[in-house]
Amino acid sequence: MKTLSLSVLMAAPLVLSSLSAQAVTLKLAHNLQSNHVVAVTLKHMAEQVQKETDGKVKIRIYGDSQMGGPRQTLEMMQQGALSMTKISGSELEPFEPVFSIFSLPYLFRDQDHFNKVVYGPIGHELEQLTKSKGFVLIAAYEAGTRSFYAKKPIRTPDDLKGMKVRVISTPTTNKMIELMGGSPAPIQFGEVYTALQQGVVDAAENNIPSYVQTRHVEIAKYYSQDSHTAVPDYLAISNMAWDKLTEKQQQILMKAARDSEKYEQQLWEAQVKKSRAEAEKMGATFVTVDKASFRKAVQPLWDQFRKDPAKDAWLEKIENVK
Ligand code: GCU
Repeated sequence: MKTLSLSVLMAAPLVLSSLSAQAVTLKLAHNLQSNHVVAVTLKHMAEQVQKETDGKVKIRIYGDSQMGGPRQTLEMMQQGALSMTKISGSELEPFEPVFSIFSLPYLFRDQDHFNKVVYGPIGHELEQLTKSKGFVLIAAYEAGTRSFYAKKPIRTPDDLKGMKVRVISTPTTNKMIELMGGSPAPIQFGEVYTALQQGVVDAAENNIPSYVQTRHVEIAKYYSQDSHTAVPDYLAISNMAWDKLTEKQQQILMKAARDSEKYEQQLWEAQVKKSRAEAEKMGATFVTVDKASFRKAVQPLWDQFRKDPAKDAWLEKIENVK
C-alpha cells in the first residue's frame, strides 16, 4: 500500500506535465489572398509559434474566405468551431459598439496619432473589451486609409449622389455613405469584384493594396484619395482556444502576436508603394479630392457620436493622445 501511494505520488507531476504539453491545433480563418501583407504576417506568426512551442501548438490557416467572411468566422469562434480569425476594426461594431469609432471618418490626425492610439494603452484596452463575447484581440495590423474607387473620379460628396457603394456594412459605415450622398451596399469582400463587374455596385472603398490585390482596379480605374477612415485589422482568438493553452504557450503566442504587429508594419509601406505602381501600370488614376467637403458632409455623424456618452468618452480619450 505504502509503495503504491508513493509511486502514484511520484508519477503525478509527470502525468500533469505531459497532459499540459499536449499538442494543440488552432484553426485560423481569414478572407485575404495569400500574398496580402496581413496573410503573409499571419503565416509568419504561425511558424514562430510552432517553432517556439516545439511543435506543440500548430496554427492551421484557412485563407481567402474559405470559411466565409469575418462575421461568420467570428460567430464560428463563439461556437467553438474555430479558434482564431482576422477581423477589421469596423466589423467589430456589432460585437462591441465602441469599435464604431474606427468607422468615424477623419478620426485620426495622422499616422503617428493612429499608431499611438492603436498600439498604445487605448488600443490595448479596446482589445480586451470583447472578452465577455467569447474572444479577445491579440494583435492589431496597419491597414492604411480607405478611399473610394469607381469608374469615374469622386472629387466631392456630390459625385457620390445616386451611386451604390460597397462598404463593410455597419450602422456607422452605412450612415457615412448616406451622409456623403451614396447608398450603402452590404457585400462580402470576396464578392465585390463580381458586384462591380456586373454593376450591382458603382463604387467601393478600400486601401490601395486591397484595391489592387482583389483586381478591383481592373474595373474601377479611378481611386479618389479622400482617405475617409483608417481602420486596423485585428487578430482575434476565442476564450475557449486561449484556455486550451498552457501558461507558457499563452506567453509564446502573445509574444508572437505582438512581434507580428511590427513585422506587418515593416511590410505595409512597401506594399502600398508597390500596389500603387502596379495600379498605375494597369491604367489606374489616383485622384486628389476636396477633403474638406467630405469632412463637412460627415459632421452629423460626429455630432451623433458626441451625444452618446460612452462614445464621446472614447473620442475624448483618443483626441487627447498627443
Ligand atoms: C481590407 C481589410 C480587411 C477587410 C477588407 C474589406 O482589406 O484589411 O480586413 O475585410 O478591407 O473591405 O472587407
